Amino acid sequence: MPIRRLPEQLVNRIAAGEVVERPASALKELVENAIDAGATRIVVALSGGGIERIEVIDDGCGMPPEDMTLAVERHATSKLPDDAIENVVTLGFRGEALPSIASVARLTLESRVRGADGWSLVVDNGRKEGEGPAALPPGTRVRVEQLFARVPARRKFLRSERSEFAACVDVVKRLAMARPDIGFTVEHDGRRSLSVQPGEDRPSRVAALTDRGLADNSVAIDYERGNARLGGVAGLPTFSRGVADHQFLFVNGRPVRDRLLIGAVRAAYQDLLARDRHPIVALFVDVPGEEVDVNVHPAKTEVRFRDAANIRGLIVGGLRHALDAAGHRSAQQPSAAALGQWQREPMNAPLYPTPQRSFASAGTQSSVWDRHEGFTPMPAARAEIATAAPPEAQSFPLGVARGQVAATYIVAEAEDGLVIVDQHAAHERLVLERMRRAVENGGVARQALLIPDVVELDEVACDRLEARIGELAEMGLEIERFGPRAILVRAMPALLGAGDPKGLVTDLADELAAFDAALSLKEKLDEVAATMACHGSVRAGRILSVAEMNALLREMEVTPHSGQCNHGRPTWIKLGHGDIEKLFGRK
Ligand SMILES: Nc1ncnc2c1ncn2[C@@H]1O[C@H](COP(=O)(O)OP(=O)(O)O)[C@@H](O)[C@H]1O
Ligand SMILES: [Mg+2]
Repeated sequence: MPIRRLPEQLVNRIAAGEVVERPASALKELVENAIDAGATRIVVALSGGGIERIEVIDDGCGMPPEDMTLAVERHATSKLPDDAIENVVTLGFRGEALPSIASVARLTLESRVRGADGWSLVVDNGRKEGEGPAALPPGTRVRVEQLFARVPARRKFLRSERSEFAACVDVVKRLAMARPDIGFTVEHDGRRSLSVQPGEDRPSRVAALTDRGLADNSVAIDYERGNARLGGVAGLPTFSRGVADHQFLFVNGRPVRDRLLIGAVRAAYQDLLARDRHPIVALFVDVPGEEVDVNVHPAKTEVRFRDAANIRGLIVGGLRHALDAAGHRSAQQPSAAALGQWQREPMNAPLYPTPQRSFASAGTQSSVWDRHEGFTPMPAARAEIATAAPPEAQSFPLGVARGQVAATYIVAEAEDGLVIVDQHAAHERLVLERMRRAVENGGVARQALLIPDVVELDEVACDRLEARIGELAEMGLEIERFGPRAILVRAMPALLGAGDPKGLVTDLADELAAFDAALSLKEKLDEVAATMACHGSVRAGRILSVAEMNALLREMEVTPHSGQCNHGRPTWIKLGHGDIEKLFGRK
């Protein structure tokens, strides 16, 4: 067959295959154009999931009629004044979106430059249909109708209107997150589904587009590494989600999808979250243009970093740094669901129902606590006489201990409410953080046993422990091989207090069996620390003195990440005075 040059219309349709995959990808191009045009408000109207109609209205700079004609031609762009892609500051630069969209749909372009008259131009499936004067406010209005109506092969691959619509909203969300200075509205079949005002700050914009609660449950990031800078918002581990749908990455203001992000975020939250939980993050990476290639894919949603390792370090370091600063904070409000479980007794119920581990006054019970039907333990709480007024909130955010419930929960009074601490989960966290710091600073302090303890174990377990003698010593546990089937414990980590050497060494041996031999104990520090904490002095079921409880609260207040246990669950919750009043119907 002879070689021939393809006609422009066919070339455009081939390009459309890459750029316009579904309504959301066409919409993305149109909204990017509006942003590049300097719009302050962008209105998106969709019908039928965007398949029937996509309309984007902006108040940007507009185009004169001759530019409109050029704009629907291939590779015509106003955005690369010096032909250097690496210096591009706009979202668009390929000059192929409008002609591609126009080749697979009916495109109506209306535009007006401030101070001039408006103009309108229609291209239907690659064929220019006509043009003429149009009345519209300054700015541009683009309408795309019947996408893929003449390309059945593509139309067949579209999903339901609902999922096409969902993809459209996602596209606008990502762009809106990058530009809190611009207002965005999305309407679908006449119903408004998204609306954000121009001129918001970044954290409020991110919260508005993900979860309103994020504003109170996140930390701001501001971090630098080499010539790269990281900004944005990181959700507290206790404010996590069951799916990773709220993770956003922007590179030089451009929303991108990147596996690097997912891996780096995982690493940063590694010992703060259980495996099946996902944090909410919006991360903004800024690097010099030559450090990143934005022209990897026609849809411009992927980038390639020259120094990917530096960017990974930037993200992990930035997240950890910000989360460290979050200290003892956790998602402080009990969830609405948990709050709803505090039932009020019916008015005519007996004052003392079956005794159970009840907390607070008779008549209030919670399904959060275990109930042992038919088992009636003596109450474990010992009330302290409340002589001292609650301390200033700023000096003691977690309050002063008032008592202990079920030998497991510390009840404290803070200036602004009632704090309940899971003593075991909190202690586990404190041990991990103390160990992490000590290991970073050259080793955990040890306390020698007066008489070394001999622990008998099977030979394989002894071999495993022996292989880790050096690492365990760094963590404060000094052991020695003692014959084929025994280990001698000479010193225990001082931070565990008077612990239980036999239990600890036995559990560590079990755990080492499950570890990958290639992993260093430092990489598994959270698990080692959790095991150690279990054999330390503060366990669930141990009665604490008021002084011990207060010491634990004070340490939590100054320890990074103490708001969540090593698995991301909260270590404490607060019932604010307002919550308590609601429970008693006073509000
Ligand atoms: N909403 C708009 N407002 C002003 N100018 C626009 C708008 N949309 C497109 N244009 C102009 O049309 C040109 C072509 O757009 P497009 O095909 O998306 O390519 P690119 O954005 O890569 O330049 C742009 O460079 C710009 O000059
Ligand atoms: Mg464009």
